[in-house]
Amino acid sequence: MPVTCVIGMHWGDEGKGGIVDTLADNADLVVRCQGGANAGHTVHVGSATYKFHLLPCGVLRENVQNLIGHGVVVDLEKILEEIETLRSHGIDPDGRLFISNRCQALMPYHKKLDGLSEKLLDKGALGTSRRGIGPCYADKVAYRGIRLADACDKDFLRKTLKKNLLVTNALLQHAYGEKPFDLDELVESTSALVAKIKPFITDGLAMIHKALKADKRILVEGAQGTLLDVDYGTYPFVSASNASVHGVSSGCGIPERKITTIIGVTKAYSTRVGAEAGPFPTEDKGPDAELIRKRGKEYGTTTGRPRQCGWLDLVATRYSAQVNDVDYLAVSLLDVLDVFDTIKVCEAYELDGKRTEAFPASCAELMRVKPIYRVMPGWKADITGYRKWDDLPVKALNYLEYIGKFTGAPVKIVRLGPEREQTVRRRET
Ligand code: IMO
Ligand code: MG
Repeated sequence: MPVTCVIGMHWGDEGKGGIVDTLADNADLVVRCQGGANAGHTVHVGSATYKFHLLPCGVLRENVQNLIGHGVVVDLEKILEEIETLRSHGIDPDGRLFISNRCQALMPYHKKLDGLSEKLLDKGALGTSRRGIGPCYADKVAYRGIRLADACDKDFLRKTLKKNLLVTNALLQHAYGEKPFDLDELVESTSALVAKIKPFITDGLAMIHKALKADKRILVEGAQGTLLDVDYGTYPFVSASNASVHGVSSGCGIPERKITTIIGVTKAYSTRVGAEAGPFPTEDKGPDAELIRKRGKEYGTTTGRPRQCGWLDLVATRYSAQVNDVDYLAVSLLDVLDVFDTIKVCEAYELDGKRTEAFPASCAELMRVKPIYRVMPGWKADITGYRKWDDLPVKALNYLEYIGKFTGAPVKIVRLGPEREQTVRRRET
């Protein structure tokens, strides 16, 4: 009864989609547990490219069931768009895609409030995806959310929205000088959307329990990454959910003790998107980063924004490996480093003149640290065509070995390009 979790080690965009797609070949059920349409998971299959925001990547595998667990905030318009796009690719999600009835509905006013607060904060903005994520989770914990199960009941929906709009419209009108949302319009538009997704709505918790009981192979698809986790990440420059493995149980109902394998996904280097005002110790603004960005096509899947790039931060990676109790690491985009004479990894920070290997909780400290690098020789070879671990250039293997040794989590999967067959596993996995 394997329950495998695929978790991002950094600030998202680690290549989780590709890893999940590969592993889904041996799964019965793929589950998303947290986040929302802020995620952008790209999967390449032959000449087709799929970009998922809310749908689990397992939808691409015919025999795999997919569940959006209750920790996910569901943008009703976006999910319908995604389902339509999938259908336009000739993939039918009927009978294979399920949405938990305990999921929170992400409403149009969440997106509005997200945009308005970012605009107001201006240079201090968080650089959110403006998908309404923070406001939706905030409403959930302030008892102002709407579960899909309740959104299906029009009378209950109206009553709930009426209460919610008292607060939301007060904020919109009096804090932002904006137009209020109209209750009748919102009830009608929400009901119409809910009616369309109703065939997919199910008791997600019951589905999980049934799958566990039947010894199904469950694969959890993490969204964002540990450094964006609202508790373990670089707060306040985080996202609003528990993006580490700690969000799995609360986000879909798999009891923690049922989790059998935790895979941490990291790129062969580091990136971050949107949070120019937030900490990113190894951010590089020179030609190395430019080359990484160009070779790694480092532009946001969800927003198209250029990502900030830098060398791999092993201090942060080790922190995340510990937070998640990672069994092993998967390293994506190793081929991006093919052209470098030397490759740097950050193995300590200098904080106020002192060397430290600890990952600070203080955001102010993390903004002040300077990376201390180890310089390693590059392999200077095109590795995109390799299909066997042991055939990889020794210098590339040394790089992977060092990552494993430093973080305490061995690297057992490596990706050498976007295609399925470019995923190479170490023999014993
Ligand atoms: P995947 O699943 C990269 C970042 C945003 C912003 C911060 C808060 O593709 O790895 P939010 O919209 O969540 O309120 O924004 O989090 N962010 C991501 N960055 N990949 C993601 O998802 C992200 N989801 C959120 O850029 O800095
Ligand atoms: Mg992304």
